[in-house]
Amino acid sequence: MAATKDIPSSILIIGSGVFGLSTAHALAQRDAFKSSKITLLERLDFPAPDAASIDTSRIIRPDYADGAYAALMAEAHPHWRGEFGAEGRYTESGLCLTQDTNADGGDDDAHLYLVRALENVKTRLGLKVGRRENGGQVEPMETPEDVGRVTSCMGGECGKRGYVNWTSGWADAEAGMCHMRKLVEILGRVEFKTAEVAKLNYGKDRVESVELVGGEKLTADLVVLATGAWTPKLVDLRGIASATGQVLAYIDITQEEQDRLGSNPVVLCETNGMFIIPPRNRELKVARHGYGYANLTRIPHPERQGEMITVSLPRTKQDDPKMNISFEGDKACREYLAKSIPDLATRPWTHTRICWYTDTPTGDWLISYHPTYSNLFVTTGGSGHAYKFLPVVGERIVDIMSGNEKDDLGAELTKKWKWPEQRKKVDHVWTDDWRGGVKGMYLDEEMAKGQKEMAKSRL
Ligand SMILES: Cc1cc2nc3c(=O)[nH]c(=O)nc-3n(C[C@H](O)[C@H](O)[C@H](O)COP(=O)(O)OP(=O)(O)OC[C@H]3O[C@@H](n4cnc5c(N)ncnc54)[C@H](O)[C@@H]3O)c2cc1C
Ligand SMILES: *[C@@H]1O[C@H](CO)[C@@H](O)[C@H](O)[C@H]1NC(C)=O
Ligand SMILES: *[C@@H]1O[C@H](CO)[C@@H](O)[C@H](O)[C@H]1NC(C)=O
Ligand SMILES: *[C@@H]1O[C@H](CO)[C@@H](O)[C@H](O)[C@H]1NC(C)=O
Repeated sequence: MAATKDIPSSILIIGSGVFGLSTAHALAQRDAFKSSKITLLERLDFPAPDAASIDTSRIIRPDYADGAYAALMAEAHPHWRGEFGAEGRYTESGLCLTQDTNADGGDDDAHLYLVRALENVKTRLGLKVGRRENGGQVEPMETPEDVGRVTSCMGGECGKRGYVNWTSGWADAEAGMCHMRKLVEILGRVEFKTAEVAKLNYGKDRVESVELVGGEKLTADLVVLATGAWTPKLVDLRGIASATGQVLAYIDITQEEQDRLGSNPVVLCETNGMFIIPPRNRELKVARHGYGYANLTRIPHPERQGEMITVSLPRTKQDDPKMNISFEGDKACREYLAKSIPDLATRPWTHTRICWYTDTPTGDWLISYHPTYSNLFVTTGGSGHAYKFLPVVGERIVDIMSGNEKDDLGAELTKKWKWPEQRKKVDHVWTDDWRGGVKGMYLDEEMAKGQKEMAKSRL
């Protein structure tokens, strides 16, 4: 696949999240594609409120244990710190990563990220280690008191140890996406359309047409699927990637609380995956980076007529405007909030949301031509960590699309993101990437439990 590909005369990108929009941005600037017609389809008016890329905030952290993502983040970071992150789109608040267990507990769990990262803190050259007030960029927290000192404005307990990387922060996710959209618009090369794709019509070895809800059929030399957690509906991804629902809860706070908490670092607990993003405009967010919920649904096989398959697909407020988070998820957010910011323990959520990751077994993305259909390129599998790469990932995607690896990192990423030679023999993929919460929860079951608990509490 290393050979340079023929340049398609028309490219149809489906999905305007991080992957689709950044692909459009990179394509629109490449000389090689200057005579390709580029169209970007999105099922809802941009920005789609239930897309994974659209929210109040996303964590921007450079401290990946994996060298390739760390290198890619080193490319993205200057953009966040520069024009891309200007006007409040990026805030370098620091990220306080904690563990809820003591140094003698939890180490047996070999993957513990923090232990490795702390080693990294101690041995790494180039970054200043120490307290922030002394110019430290990475600040180890060896005791609960250290953690308490760094997060004192929260007034609660945020963990037993950990470290703060003061060079991390968070992005206003929707604002970042709107900025990217503007950058694409300015280039004047991409036609935007709001329309939902019902299905791809597959021939033996290519996608013959893209069929919209309503029946209209579009054709293109190259079809780029960037439909996030909805992708398993349009191509068979069983054993490769699945939608998993993650819980988010928001509360309104007072101006006094905003002033007190607003410049706090992001706090993320490695033990349970819970995190709190510092408030903006008097709104604070609590969420969990978890294994999530599967929403198993029977659908027609996207590639073969007359066959049904079971896959997990998103269910969002677009499907049910009254949808809340599950009882279990609500409880997890509530307990974490009460523990970390006791003042806010009983403040009701103003709204909640289930947001959908596209999870792969390893947490590596899927960015590749389809092995069977030569004009189908898939870019998805974000696994809950792709947002931070918004300013640069499109360039890497288009490198893979054109078969041009511009450097060693490109070659490594191509390998990491390629279509897997073997699928896992399961309908639903539960990732083995680092997560909090319980593995193996199903949306319907958890929602039903909620109804029962709520009925009980009304008695
Ligand atoms: C709760 C949550 C927290 C996260 N936190 C972080 C974080 O802190 N840091 C970080 O770096 N990353 C984070 N991520 C991950 C990151 O947001 C995602 O990896 C990234 O946004 C995925 O982008 P995407 O383009 O694959 O999907 P999406 O943004 O979902 O885009 C897919 C688009 O396709 C459209 N679409 C779907 N089906 C169709 C169709 N049939 N026809 C037309 N259009 C269609 C959808 O409407 C949607 O707009 C988080 C994700 C979630 C959900
Ligand atoms: C903190 O962030 C920097 C990049 O700004 C990164 O190089 C470093 O590895 C991070 N620290 C840790 C402990 O991972
Ligand atoms: C999962 O979500 C889809 C899309 O909203 C919905 O049609 C389906 O019924 C859901 N499945 C279950 C088991 O709830
Ligand atoms: C969601 O919660 C709100 C507020 O508590 C409630 O009014 C609504 O009925 C709930 N929705 C569902 C579907 O349970």
